[in-house]
Amino acid sequence: MERLLKRKREAIAQMFSAIAPRYDLLNRLLSGFQDIRWRKFAVDWLSPSARLIVDIGTGTGDFAFAAIKRCSEAKIIGFDISQPMLALARSKAKSKKVSDRYKLICADGLNLPINDEVADAVLCAFVVRNFESLSEGIKEMFRILKPTGVALILEFCQPPIEWWLTPIGLFVRYAVPLIGAFLSNTTAYAYLTASIQNFLPADAIADKMSAVGFKKVTWLPLTFGVATLFRAVK
Ligand SMILES: C[S@@+](CC[C@H](N)C(=O)[O-])C[C@H]1O[C@@H](n2cnc3c(N)ncnc32)[C@H](O)[C@@H]1O
Repeated sequence: MERLLKRKREAIAQMFSAIAPRYDLLNRLLSGFQDIRWRKFAVDWLSPSARLIVDIGTGTGDFAFAAIKRCSEAKIIGFDISQPMLALARSKAKSKKVSDRYKLICADGLNLPINDEVADAVLCAFVVRNFESLSEGIKEMFRILKPTGVALILEFCQPPIEWWLTPIGLFVRYAVPLIGAFLSNTTAYAYLTASIQNFLPADAIADKMSAVGFKKVTWLPLTFGVATLFRAVK
């Protein structure tokens, strides 16, 4: 079992490594620049006095950079399993002159090399869909948060079936895999649509957060339900 999970994690890491060079471009194009708004909207829930924030699946760093802007005293630790994603995050941090506030580490979100109860906040955008075990990933967030720390998760949850017949639903189903294949990688963008279809609906994810011990679990649909923001307190 452990070997199977490792193989899945490696396949996910390879897929994200393959799309890393054009990841930001495709995010902007496919979301119509909404992805920037979603991250900004999420970090507005952070306390400006937060000191340590952990960004799980930090990718090219956009969620971390939004948090750095919002919380002037905070240091961010970004974890990711893809080295090319981490390299891009590192080079963006350098050009934004925030390298001293943003530490990048290659590690699995299900097994973070960090002590219990050290983080004021945990961020995780568009990652939990890829975890081998959603509950284990949420437990790991809970473990590293200080009591009263906040978790902010952005994700594409499984929408209601009729959503797929709306213009946005049709775009995600048919246009996203085509545009992704043309500009980046066929497998990765087919996987994006398929993984949204096969993921859990928002209420089921919120239930998993509550089951792990999170309190005040709330979720908000963003941009006609394309993305969802979950907010919870330890
Ligand atoms: C869709 S990208 C999101 C990147 C970033 N959070 C953002 O807002 O753009 C997903 C990222 O999560 C990383 N990832 C996937 N599974 C992971 C895991 N188990 N642990 C850590 N990172 C993971 C991928 O390598 C990728 O960089």
